[in-house]
Amino acid sequence: MRSVRAGIIGAGFIGPQHLEAVRRLGYVDVVAIAVSRAEEAKAIAEKLFIERAYGSYRELLADPEIEVIHNCTPTGLHYEINRAALEAGKHVISEKPLAMDSSQTAELVQVAASSGRLAAVNFNHRGYPMVQQARQMISTGLLGDVYLLHGSYLQDWLLYPTDWSWRLDPVTGGVSRAMADIGSHWADLVQHVTGHCITRLFADLHTLLPKRLRPTKRVQTFSGRTNEVHTEEVDIKTEDEAMVMFETDQGGRGSFLVSQVSAGHKNKLSFEINGSKASVRWDADDPDQLWIGYRDKPNERLSKDPSLVAREVAQYVHLPGGHSEAWPDALKNVMGEIYEAIQDGRTGPMNGNAFATFADGHRSARLVDVVLESAHRQTWVEVPTN
Ligand SMILES: NC(=O)c1ccc[n+]([C@@H]2O[C@H](COP(=O)([O-])OP(=O)(O)OC[C@H]3O[C@@H](n4cnc5c(N)ncnc54)[C@H](O)[C@@H]3O)[C@@H](O)[C@H]2O)c1
Repeated sequence: MRSVRAGIIGAGFIGPQHLEAVRRLGYVDVVAIAVSRAEEAKAIAEKLFIERAYGSYRELLADPEIEVIHNCTPTGLHYEINRAALEAGKHVISEKPLAMDSSQTAELVQVAASSGRLAAVNFNHRGYPMVQQARQMISTGLLGDVYLLHGSYLQDWLLYPTDWSWRLDPVTGGVSRAMADIGSHWADLVQHVTGHCITRLFADLHTLLPKRLRPTKRVQTFSGRTNEVHTEEVDIKTEDEAMVMFETDQGGRGSFLVSQVSAGHKNKLSFEINGSKASVRWDADDPDQLWIGYRDKPNERLSKDPSLVAREVAQYVHLPGGHSEAWPDALKNVMGEIYEAIQDGRTGPMNGNAFATFADGHRSARLVDVVLESAHRQTWVEVPTN
């Protein structure tokens, strides 16, 4: 197996997580990091033991030794950087959301197709073993026909008016916030698990905190320390919570609630699927367990254990039963499949793989656009198929 050289653009919260995940694969050499200032890049590179530091993403893209780009910048930069990276002949692993709206993501799908390079988007929750177990049970008919898909994604890190992030500014975060940031994860995951596609929806969005205090200096995402700096009051236009009802292409019906202002919930993504024979429920707060519900016999809780999961799922399990595998491990699983494709010279996933492509990122962006339209018009809206 040859080693692969990669560069990471953006090194706030998620960039170092990509670094750790790919270092654990063993054959990925992250040789460079880029942020928007040379001094900061140098300090981060030293701290993270990365050889080269660039003060602009364009310098990193011009490095001929780098084959793969991880785009870990704020959402407003995704389109420009993803496009430039593909045009520079690099494979691209972009953070979600793939871009600001579906017109940008449609272009990126075209650019990726003509580049001949791999173009993936990091819907990392797909990589949890028990998520894959639920997917396998549904695809092999153990749940019967899927009737209902429901759940939520709840966080509390934007509960107070003093909480601030670039995500609150539509210029850097986009016109949708809770939906694009975390609702996109929920909808992608549930469609991935069931194989259903959301075709029609009704959404209600609400900004519970219409005014917030923006720090006059930059703050680190998720640091929770914004009350220690000088601030100015700003109007907030993006949603703190979204409620969505939907129908799928295979007759499923469902709903989800996403919120960034739900006290006590740090990063709680959960879903339940009810079928004609059985149900499954998974919760990121208890990720090694899968609840399986029956009508005519006692319910079960299946624990993540290589000897208990389906044969096809065993590749996502790396530790014996009772040894937790959680968020960083799911990310590593997804990165492993992406780099395996790069090693094999493939530009997309093999049948059964968990990783998401730019086409999935486009489908997700279309859904977010329709959520915004439905909430604005207060009516059901069809999700376009192109
Ligand atoms: N998949 C997940 O679970 C997950 C989790 C968190 C964030 N994300 C996504 O990752 C992206 C980044 O989020 P974050 O929380 O890490 O943000 P962050 O603010 O913590 O980090 C952003 C980084 O980008 C850098 N940056 C800003 N402008 C730049 C430029 N012009 N050139 C190069 N670098 C630049 C910043 O210096 C910083 O290092 C977002 O799109 C977010 O949606 C995904």
